[in-house]
Amino acid sequence: MKFTLKQGKIAKKAKSCQIIGVSEKGDLTIAAKAVDKASKALITKLFKQGDFRGELGQTWLIPMLNSGTLLLVGCGKTLTVTAGDFRKIINASFKEIQSTHIEQVTVALEDLIITDYSPSWKVRQIVEVANSALYVFDQFKSAKKAATHLKEITISCAGDKTELAECQRALAQGRAIAESVSFAKNLENLPSNICTPTFLAEQAKEFASQHKNITIKILEEAEMKKLGMGAFMAVTSGSAQPGKMVCLEYTGTDKKSAPIGLVGKGITFDSGGISLKPPEAMISMKYDMCGAATVLGVFKAATLLKLPINLVGIMAIAENLPSGTACKPDDIVTTLSGITVEILNTDAEGRLVLSDALTYCERYKPKIVIDIATLTGAAVIALGHHASALLTNDDELAQDLLTAGLESYDRAWRLPLWSDYQEQIKSPFADIANTGGRTAGTITAACFLSRFTKKFRWAHLDVAGTAAMMMGGADRYATGRPIPMLTQFLINQCND
Ligand code: BES
Ligand code: MN
Ligand code: ZN
Repeated sequence: MKFTLKQGKIAKKAKSCQIIGVSEKGDLTIAAKAVDKASKALITKLFKQGDFRGELGQTWLIPMLNSGTLLLVGCGKTLTVTAGDFRKIINASFKEIQSTHIEQVTVALEDLIITDYSPSWKVRQIVEVANSALYVFDQFKSAKKAATHLKEITISCAGDKTELAECQRALAQGRAIAESVSFAKNLENLPSNICTPTFLAEQAKEFASQHKNITIKILEEAEMKKLGMGAFMAVTSGSAQPGKMVCLEYTGTDKKSAPIGLVGKGITFDSGGISLKPPEAMISMKYDMCGAATVLGVFKAATLLKLPINLVGIMAIAENLPSGTACKPDDIVTTLSGITVEILNTDAEGRLVLSDALTYCERYKPKIVIDIATLTGAAVIALGHHASALLTNDDELAQDLLTAGLESYDRAWRLPLWSDYQEQIKSPFADIANTGGRTAGTITAACFLSRFTKKFRWAHLDVAGTAAMMMGGADRYATGRPIPMLTQFLINQCND
């Protein structure tokens, strides 16, 4: 898809479309007013007829024959909308256009006002939301959905030179994020019989080979065993598929500058292991590698944006299955850090693979490490699908991530990581247990991780509710989150 900016008048051609906004009161955006005037009050008349009511996200396609198509989109009560509503307006518009003959679209909503957000923010969101709305994953469908005819999306801009420059930058960021999100989603949506640990590691290898400033090292099981990664080995031991620890390095600035570490949970399928999940809870557990795919996605965004920063990425990749060689409840393992862990529940496998990955990350002397994991069902219960759970004892890092989340509209919400909760992971037999009881599951999981992150500033993102819609049903899909948030975080780090 080609994304461009345009100032001023839009030429109307056949197979082109202009998106214009109308509120419930019948207020028209500037472009809508111009169309209304040129068409003997067509829009005003339509509105008065009553079928098009301007409700948020309502769409109405009007063929204008030789001068293209109009798409009326409802903006809700007024032409001042919230950030979330703006995304709904864009999403609804592109869902409507997706299966038409339209080849070029102009988004003419430059005068829609969004409380607290700039015009350039709108540009970036249009790119990201349009990309998501048009995304299809049909590689396993015999009958492919007809590909969209859409080739070019033009975003109409007002404002002066500085604003236009900002919008250009936002457009580039939006493109990079959109491309990285689609790249990650294409891996995330794959089933685990195809996306095995070996496959995922190969994808990382292929990605790394395309970029001169990215290096990759893959730790195989034999090496991990020798190193003493007892927690990772316990998880991978139940599967016939060998686990992998993928270590990526991106050099975007002086080699001496300490990197930011991204550590991702990459369970290609989580059956629960011997502590087997019930069937309904197992559906969508192919998405348990979204943390690892996020690491790849953020690396892609960093390369596309040529971010002047150094990164280290660790993908802890394994499959969690029950078998005669699987780890069992009550087993005690020794992690790479030396801390011993009593495995009370083999379904709490994410923290096990992450513990060794986080300790391994110390070798790169990172200044900050952020881990990303679909770690607990409790995070979905607490925050639903709207916010990722953020846990850290570093207030400044928390603020930076929350801000990045608001800016990218890929939001997180902080939960406490008070030492009081550490009590719950005590074990009578080992240094710690891998579960902390029924209450505060997201927090006790983070408490577990906190034991392995003493050597750097650290934050944990539990994306169980946001990385994918996983809770069964027909509406299951990957979202590419939290790639927008983390990319924004890195952009902001570069500007500091
Ligand atoms: N991958 C799951 C978490 C999950 C659940 C993600 C639902 C997305 C949707 C994780 O490995 C898990 O099984 N966690 C357990 C932990 C418990 C055994 C302490 C959970 O949340 O039930
Ligand atoms: Mn699990
Ligand atoms: Zn899991």
